[in-house]
Amino acid sequence: MTNPLHTILQQMPKAELHMHVEGSLEPEMIFALARRNDVTLSYASVAALRAAYDFKDLQSFLDVYYAGASVLLQEADFFDMTWAYLLRAQADNVVHAEIFFDPQTHLERGVDMATAIGGIDRALRRGQAELGISSGLILCFLRHLSEDDALATLELALPHREKFIGVGLDSSESGHPPEKFARVFARAGALGLHRVAHAGEEGPPAYIETALDVLQVERIDHGVRCTEDAALTARLAREQVALTVCPLSNVKLRVFDAMAGHNMLQLLEAGILATVNSDDPAYFGGYINANFEALFDALPLQRRHAYQLARNGFTAAFLPPALKQAYIDRLDAFFLAHATPVGEFG
Ligand code: HPA
Ligand code: ZN
Repeated sequence: MTNPLHTILQQMPKAELHMHVEGSLEPEMIFALARRNDVTLSYASVAALRAAYDFKDLQSFLDVYYAGASVLLQEADFFDMTWAYLLRAQADNVVHAEIFFDPQTHLERGVDMATAIGGIDRALRRGQAELGISSGLILCFLRHLSEDDALATLELALPHREKFIGVGLDSSESGHPPEKFARVFARAGALGLHRVAHAGEEGPPAYIETALDVLQVERIDHGVRCTEDAALTARLAREQVALTVCPLSNVKLRVFDAMAGHNMLQLLEAGILATVNSDDPAYFGGYINANFEALFDALPLQRRHAYQLARNGFTAAFLPPALKQAYIDRLDAFFLAHATPVGEFG
Protein backbone atom coordinates (compact mmCIF):
# COMPACT_ATOMS: atom_id res chain seq x y z
CA MET A 1 0.00 0.00 0.00
CA THR A 2 1.36 3.40 -0.83
CA ASN A 3 1.86 5.72 2.08
CA PRO A 4 -1.07 8.22 2.23
CA LEU A 5 1.43 10.92 3.21
CA HIS A 6 3.07 10.79 -0.23
CA THR A 7 0.74 13.42 -1.68
CA ILE A 8 1.60 15.84 1.10
CA LEU A 9 5.31 15.07 0.85
CA GLN A 10 5.23 15.64 -2.89
CA GLN A 11 3.10 18.77 -2.94
CA MET A 12 4.28 20.71 0.11
CA PRO A 13 6.54 23.67 -0.72
CA LYS A 14 10.11 22.94 0.32
CA ALA A 15 13.67 24.20 0.40
CA GLU A 16 16.69 22.16 -0.66
CA LEU A 17 19.91 23.12 1.13
CA HIS A 18 22.33 20.30 0.29
CA MET A 19 22.65 19.41 -3.37
CA HIS A 20 25.94 19.23 -5.31
CA VAL A 21 25.04 20.44 -8.77
CA GLU A 22 27.66 18.14 -10.35
CA GLY A 23 25.78 15.33 -8.60
CA SER A 24 22.63 16.18 -10.56
CA LEU A 25 24.28 15.14 -13.84
CA GLU A 26 22.18 12.25 -15.07
CA PRO A 27 24.03 9.52 -17.05
CA GLU A 28 22.18 10.52 -20.24
CA MET A 29 23.41 14.09 -19.88
CA ILE A 30 26.95 12.91 -19.10
CA PHE A 31 26.96 11.03 -22.41
CA ALA A 32 25.36 13.91 -24.32
CA LEU A 33 27.95 16.37 -22.99
CA ALA A 34 30.78 13.91 -23.67
CA ARG A 35 29.67 13.79 -27.32
CA ARG A 36 29.23 17.57 -27.52
CA ASN A 37 32.71 18.17 -26.07
CA ASP A 38 34.52 15.22 -27.57
CA VAL A 39 35.40 13.80 -24.17
CA THR A 40 36.18 10.09 -23.96
CA LEU A 41 34.54 8.34 -21.02
CA SER A 42 35.81 5.13 -19.51
CA TYR A 43 32.25 3.72 -19.60
CA ALA A 44 30.92 2.22 -22.84
CA SER A 45 27.27 3.19 -22.39
CA VAL A 46 24.68 4.83 -20.16
CA ALA A 47 23.87 1.37 -18.81
CA ALA A 48 27.54 0.64 -18.03
CA LEU A 49 27.85 3.96 -16.21
CA ARG A 50 24.69 3.32 -14.22
CA ALA A 51 25.99 -0.12 -13.31
CA ALA A 52 28.97 1.59 -11.64
CA TYR A 53 26.60 3.32 -9.20
CA ASP A 54 27.02 0.57 -6.65
CA PHE A 55 29.00 2.28 -3.94
CA LYS A 56 30.59 0.78 -0.87
CA ASP A 57 31.56 4.05 0.79
CA LEU A 58 32.06 7.77 0.18
CA GLN A 59 35.35 7.36 -1.72
CA SER A 60 33.98 4.78 -4.15
CA PHE A 61 31.21 7.27 -4.99
CA LEU A 62 33.57 10.22 -5.33
CA ASP A 63 35.69 8.35 -7.89
CA VAL A 64 32.66 7.93 -10.19
CA TYR A 65 31.33 11.44 -9.45
CA TYR A 66 34.60 13.12 -10.48
CA ALA A 67 34.69 11.00 -13.66
CA GLY A 68 31.17 12.19 -14.49
CA ALA A 69 32.10 15.84 -13.95
CA SER A 70 34.92 15.52 -16.52
CA VAL A 71 32.44 16.26 -19.34
CA LEU A 72 31.81 19.82 -18.09
CA LEU A 73 33.93 22.17 -20.18
CA GLN A 74 31.91 25.11 -21.47
CA GLU A 75 29.67 27.72 -19.86
CA ALA A 76 26.69 26.15 -21.64
CA ASP A 77 27.44 22.78 -19.99
CA PHE A 78 27.20 24.33 -16.53
CA PHE A 79 24.04 26.16 -17.56
CA ASP A 80 22.38 23.03 -18.99
CA MET A 81 23.24 20.94 -15.91
CA THR A 82 21.87 23.56 -13.51
CA TRP A 83 18.76 24.23 -15.57
CA ALA A 84 17.95 20.51 -15.71
CA TYR A 85 18.23 20.38 -11.90
CA LEU A 86 15.93 23.38 -11.50
CA LEU A 87 13.25 21.88 -13.73
CA ARG A 88 13.44 18.66 -11.72
CA ALA A 89 13.35 20.59 -8.45
CA GLN A 90 10.28 22.51 -9.58
CA ALA A 91 8.51 19.21 -10.25
CA ASP A 92 9.18 18.35 -6.59
CA ASN A 93 7.81 21.71 -5.41
CA VAL A 94 11.18 23.07 -4.35
CA VAL A 95 10.70 26.83 -4.00
CA HIS A 96 14.16 27.67 -2.64
CA ALA A 97 17.47 25.94 -3.43
CA GLU A 98 20.96 26.50 -2.05
CA ILE A 99 23.28 24.51 -4.24
CA PHE A 100 26.94 23.50 -4.02
CA PHE A 101 29.56 23.40 -6.71
CA ASP A 102 33.21 22.24 -6.65
CA PRO A 103 35.33 24.81 -8.51
CA GLN A 104 38.60 22.92 -7.93
CA THR A 105 37.26 19.90 -9.83
CA HIS A 106 36.97 22.17 -12.86
CA LEU A 107 40.02 24.39 -12.34
CA GLU A 108 42.32 21.39 -12.34
CA ARG A 109 40.94 20.40 -15.77
CA GLY A 110 41.62 23.88 -17.15
CA VAL A 111 38.03 25.14 -16.82
CA ASP A 112 38.20 28.61 -15.31
CA MET A 113 36.09 30.05 -12.52
CA ALA A 114 34.16 32.41 -14.82
CA THR A 115 33.01 29.51 -17.03
CA ALA A 116 31.71 27.36 -14.18
CA ILE A 117 30.22 30.05 -11.99
CA GLY A 118 28.87 32.00 -14.96
CA GLY A 119 26.91 29.07 -16.37
CA ILE A 120 25.49 28.04 -13.01
CA ASP A 121 24.56 31.62 -12.12
CA ARG A 122 22.81 32.22 -15.46
CA ALA A 123 20.61 29.16 -14.86
CA LEU A 124 19.86 30.19 -11.27
CA ARG A 125 18.79 33.67 -12.38
CA ARG A 126 16.57 32.18 -15.07
CA GLY A 127 15.17 29.81 -12.43
CA GLN A 128 14.16 32.76 -10.30
CA ALA A 129 12.64 34.66 -13.24
CA GLU A 130 10.85 31.80 -15.00
CA LEU A 131 10.26 29.14 -12.33
CA GLY A 132 9.96 31.35 -9.26
CA ILE A 133 12.68 29.37 -7.46
CA SER A 134 14.88 31.54 -5.24
CA SER A 135 18.42 30.29 -4.85
CA GLY A 136 21.94 30.74 -3.61
CA LEU A 137 25.24 29.24 -4.72
CA ILE A 138 27.81 27.84 -2.27
CA LEU A 139 31.39 27.24 -3.36
CA CYS A 140 32.81 24.07 -1.81
CA PHE A 141 36.47 23.40 -1.14
CA LEU A 142 37.71 19.84 -1.68
CA ARG A 143 39.06 18.65 1.64
CA HIS A 144 41.43 16.10 0.07
CA LEU A 145 43.38 19.07 -1.38
CA SER A 146 45.52 21.50 0.62
CA GLU A 147 44.32 24.58 2.45
CA ASP A 148 46.60 26.70 0.24
CA ASP A 149 44.72 25.39 -2.77
CA ALA A 150 41.43 26.34 -1.10
CA LEU A 151 42.78 29.83 -0.30
CA ALA A 152 43.86 30.32 -3.92
CA THR A 153 40.43 29.11 -5.09
CA LEU A 154 38.65 31.63 -2.88
CA GLU A 155 40.78 34.45 -4.29
CA LEU A 156 39.92 33.32 -7.85
CA ALA A 157 36.23 33.47 -6.95
CA LEU A 158 36.29 36.98 -5.50
CA PRO A 159 35.80 38.78 -8.85
CA HIS A 160 32.48 36.86 -8.94
CA ARG A 161 31.57 37.69 -5.35
CA GLU A 162 27.98 38.67 -6.16
CA LYS A 163 27.32 35.24 -7.70
CA PHE A 164 27.76 33.17 -4.52
CA ILE A 165 26.56 33.42 -0.94
CA GLY A 166 28.94 31.17 0.95
CA VAL A 167 31.58 28.49 1.17
CA GLY A 168 31.42 24.82 2.12
CA LEU A 169 33.70 21.83 2.56
CA ASP A 170 33.17 18.48 0.82
CA SER A 171 34.92 15.40 -0.66
CA SER A 172 36.78 12.72 1.34
CA GLU A 173 36.07 13.32 5.00
CA SER A 174 38.14 10.76 6.92
CA GLY A 175 41.64 12.03 7.62
CA HIS A 176 40.74 15.57 6.56
CA PRO A 177 39.33 17.27 9.67
CA PRO A 178 37.66 20.67 9.42
CA GLU A 179 40.47 22.40 11.30
CA LYS A 180 42.74 21.80 8.28
CA PHE A 181 40.75 24.68 6.71
CA ALA A 182 40.77 27.17 9.60
CA ARG A 183 42.45 30.01 7.70
CA VAL A 184 40.34 29.84 4.56
CA PHE A 185 37.11 29.77 6.58
CA ALA A 186 38.34 32.73 8.66
CA ARG A 187 38.99 34.62 5.43
CA ALA A 188 35.52 33.69 4.12
CA GLY A 189 33.97 34.91 7.37
CA ALA A 190 35.83 38.21 7.12
CA LEU A 191 34.40 38.60 3.61
CA GLY A 192 30.87 38.20 4.98
CA LEU A 193 30.29 34.82 3.36
CA HIS A 194 28.07 32.14 4.85
CA ARG A 195 29.95 29.05 6.04
CA VAL A 196 28.89 25.39 6.04
CA ALA A 197 30.83 22.11 6.10
CA HIS A 198 30.24 18.42 5.58
CA ALA A 199 30.95 16.74 8.92
CA GLY A 200 29.85 13.62 10.72
CA GLU A 201 28.91 11.79 7.51
CA GLU A 202 31.77 9.28 7.52
CA GLY A 203 33.93 11.28 9.90
CA PRO A 204 33.55 11.19 13.70
CA PRO A 205 31.34 13.47 15.83
CA ALA A 206 34.51 15.42 16.77
CA TYR A 207 34.54 16.80 13.20
CA ILE A 208 31.12 18.35 13.83
CA GLU A 209 32.51 20.10 16.90
CA THR A 210 35.56 21.49 15.15
CA ALA A 211 33.47 22.59 12.17
CA LEU A 212 31.40 24.63 14.63
CA ASP A 213 34.18 25.83 16.91
CA VAL A 214 37.08 26.31 14.50
CA LEU A 215 35.37 27.01 11.17
CA GLN A 216 32.39 28.81 12.75
CA VAL A 217 29.96 27.17 10.35
CA GLU A 218 26.26 28.05 10.47
CA ARG A 219 25.00 24.64 9.33
CA ILE A 220 26.41 21.12 9.27
CA ASP A 221 26.01 19.07 6.09
CA HIS A 222 24.99 15.52 7.01
CA GLY A 223 26.02 15.49 10.71
CA VAL A 224 24.08 12.27 11.33
CA ARG A 225 26.87 10.74 13.41
CA CYS A 226 26.20 13.37 16.11
CA THR A 227 23.95 10.87 17.89
CA GLU A 228 27.05 8.89 18.89
CA ASP A 229 27.75 11.72 21.34
CA ALA A 230 24.94 12.66 23.73
CA ALA A 231 26.51 15.98 24.75
CA LEU A 232 26.97 16.99 21.11
CA THR A 233 23.39 16.01 20.26
CA ALA A 234 22.15 18.18 23.12
CA ARG A 235 24.34 21.06 21.98
CA LEU A 236 23.07 20.92 18.39
CA ALA A 237 19.51 21.02 19.69
CA ARG A 238 20.21 23.82 22.17
CA GLU A 239 22.00 25.98 19.61
CA GLN A 240 19.53 25.04 16.84
CA VAL A 241 22.33 24.17 14.43
CA ALA A 242 20.72 22.90 11.25
CA LEU A 243 21.74 19.51 9.85
CA THR A 244 21.23 19.05 6.11
CA VAL A 245 20.51 15.33 6.09
CA CYS A 246 20.45 13.28 2.87
CA PRO A 247 18.67 9.96 3.54
CA LEU A 248 19.18 8.16 0.20
CA SER A 249 22.84 9.20 0.17
CA ASN A 250 23.29 7.86 3.69
CA VAL A 251 22.00 4.44 2.68
CA LYS A 252 23.80 4.35 -0.71
CA LEU A 253 27.12 5.23 0.94
CA ARG A 254 26.41 2.80 3.79
CA VAL A 255 26.37 5.31 6.60
CA PHE A 256 23.25 3.30 7.57
CA ASP A 257 22.69 -0.30 6.42
CA ALA A 258 19.06 0.35 5.51
CA MET A 259 16.60 3.24 5.63
CA ALA A 260 14.80 1.55 8.53
CA GLY A 261 17.97 2.13 10.55
CA HIS A 262 18.19 5.87 9.75
CA ASN A 263 18.30 8.13 12.79
CA MET A 264 16.08 10.94 11.43
CA LEU A 265 13.33 10.35 14.00
CA GLN A 266 15.91 10.33 16.77
CA LEU A 267 17.28 13.66 15.50
CA LEU A 268 13.81 15.23 15.42
CA GLU A 269 12.89 13.89 18.85
CA ALA A 270 16.13 15.33 20.23
CA GLY A 271 14.93 18.75 18.99
CA ILE A 272 17.56 19.08 16.25
CA LEU A 273 16.83 21.30 13.26
CA ALA A 274 17.14 18.48 10.73
CA THR A 275 16.26 18.94 7.06
CA VAL A 276 15.83 16.57 4.10
CA ASN A 277 17.94 16.97 0.96
CA SER A 278 19.11 14.98 -2.05
CA ASP A 279 22.96 15.44 -1.98
CA ASP A 280 23.79 13.93 -5.42
CA PRO A 281 20.36 13.02 -6.80
CA ALA A 282 21.52 11.50 -10.09
CA TYR A 283 23.79 9.07 -8.23
CA PHE A 284 21.80 8.15 -5.13
CA GLY A 285 18.46 7.15 -6.61
CA GLY A 286 16.34 10.22 -6.39
CA TYR A 287 15.58 13.90 -5.99
CA ILE A 288 14.25 15.51 -2.83
CA ASN A 289 10.75 14.01 -2.89
CA ALA A 290 12.18 10.50 -3.32
CA ASN A 291 14.25 11.19 -0.20
CA PHE A 292 11.17 12.25 1.76
CA GLU A 293 9.20 9.24 0.53
CA ALA A 294 11.91 6.69 1.28
CA LEU A 295 12.30 8.10 4.78
CA PHE A 296 8.57 8.18 5.53
CA ASP A 297 8.07 4.68 4.13
CA ALA A 298 10.78 3.21 6.36
CA LEU A 299 10.25 5.09 9.62
CA PRO A 300 7.18 5.82 11.79
CA LEU A 301 7.10 9.45 10.64
CA GLN A 302 3.80 11.30 10.48
CA ARG A 303 2.23 14.38 9.01
CA ARG A 304 3.58 16.61 11.77
CA HIS A 305 7.08 15.42 10.94
CA ALA A 306 6.55 16.32 7.29
CA TYR A 307 5.55 19.82 8.36
CA GLN A 308 8.49 20.08 10.77
CA LEU A 309 11.03 18.96 8.19
CA ALA A 310 9.74 21.35 5.54
CA ARG A 311 9.61 24.19 8.07
CA ASN A 312 13.16 23.42 9.21
CA GLY A 313 14.32 23.78 5.61
CA PHE A 314 13.04 27.34 5.45
CA THR A 315 14.26 28.17 8.97
CA ALA A 316 17.77 26.95 8.10
CA ALA A 317 17.92 28.74 4.73
CA PHE A 318 20.25 31.68 4.18
CA LEU A 319 17.38 34.05 3.50
CA PRO A 320 16.41 37.41 5.00
CA PRO A 321 13.89 36.96 7.87
CA ALA A 322 10.96 38.42 5.93
CA LEU A 323 11.44 36.03 3.00
CA LYS A 324 11.87 33.09 5.36
CA GLN A 325 8.61 34.02 7.07
CA ALA A 326 6.84 34.37 3.73
CA TYR A 327 7.85 30.82 2.83
CA ILE A 328 6.77 29.50 6.24
CA ASP A 329 3.41 31.27 5.81
CA ARG A 330 3.06 29.54 2.44
CA LEU A 331 3.84 26.20 4.08
CA ASP A 332 1.29 26.86 6.84
CA ALA A 333 -1.34 27.72 4.23
CA PHE A 334 -0.57 24.49 2.39
CA PHE A 335 -1.01 22.39 5.55
CA LEU A 336 -4.22 24.22 6.46
CA ALA A 337 -5.63 23.55 3.01
CA HIS A 338 -4.68 19.88 3.37
CA ALA A 339 -6.38 19.30 6.70
CA THR A 340 -5.99 15.93 8.40
CA PRO A 341 -8.90 13.69 7.34
CA VAL A 342 -11.23 12.63 10.18
CA GLY A 343 -9.89 9.58 11.95
CA GLU A 344 -6.34 10.15 10.84
CA PHE A 345 -3.94 11.29 13.48
CA GLY A 346 -0.56 12.75 13.01
N1 HPA B 1 30.10 14.03 0.78
C1 HPA B 1 31.30 14.54 0.52
N2 HPA B 1 31.61 15.06 -0.65
C2 HPA B 1 30.70 15.09 -1.61
C3 HPA B 1 29.44 14.57 -1.40
C4 HPA B 1 29.13 14.03 -0.13
O1 HPA B 1 28.01 13.56 0.17
N3 HPA B 1 28.77 14.75 -2.56
C5 HPA B 1 29.60 15.35 -3.44
N4 HPA B 1 30.77 15.58 -2.86
ZN1 ZN C 1 27.07 16.40 0.17
